[in-house]
Amino acid sequence: MELSEAIRTTRAMRRLDPERPVSDEDIWTILDAASRAPSGGNRQIARWLVVRDAKRRADIGRIYGECWKSIRQGYADQQGDEGPSPILASADHLAAHMGEAPAILIPCSLGGDPASIYPGCQNLFLAAREIGLGTALTTVHRLKEAEVKAVLDIPDDVQTWAMIPVGHPLGRWGEAKRRPVEETTYWDSYGERRPRS
Ligand SMILES: Cc1cc2nc3c(=O)[nH]c(=O)nc-3n(C[C@H](O)[C@H](O)[C@H](O)COP(=O)(O)O)c2cc1C
Repeated sequence: MELSEAIRTTRAMRRLDPERPVSDEDIWTILDAASRAPSGGNRQIARWLVVRDAKRRADIGRIYGECWKSIRQGYADQQGDEGPSPILASADHLAAHMGEAPAILIPCSLGGDPASIYPGCQNLFLAAREIGLGTALTTVHRLKEAEVKAVLDIPDDVQTWAMIPVGHPLGRWGEAKRRPVEETTYWDSYGERRPRS
């Protein structure tokens, strides 16, 4: 797959096949991509916790679901003329099934800035897309981070920056819907747009 296609079609894949296994080798492949990412001072602070154990996945999945439930209303209230928030149904699905994802990845660090974590996440998402795996960046578990840490034996002073389910995606999806770059780009002076010729 061309990199440009992977960039355009990597989405928040919240519907994953719980029955179709993901090999350890595939997990190594996407984590290897993550490990190539830049970090502040090249300190490489990210530590990746791969959760495979069914009981621990179920436990952190339940905590994730509780966290989502506590913020869900905010998304539900967003419905406007265009109907319900498009992410609501898929976010609900993930909240109900997070624990069934064949693997759940938790990027962690002992201190440091998450700006040194998320480039690795994006590398991982693209690498996963290339080999047909779906992923989703989620952070809502941080509302109950202490509970997640307790399940995974993560020390108190280590932060968990995301909860990333990994699996084979279900359903169909297209390119990500995004604002046009001409709208979000300014030239020389904030607010100054330039047409793209
Ligand atoms: C910082 C960040 C935090 C996010 N947290 C969550 C989350 O907790 N739960 C969730 O379902 N999606 C989460 N998302 C996924 C976004 O909702 C998703 O990337 C966005 O809706 C675009 O989706 P698309 O790429 O499929 O178009 C998060 C994304 C980012 C960048």
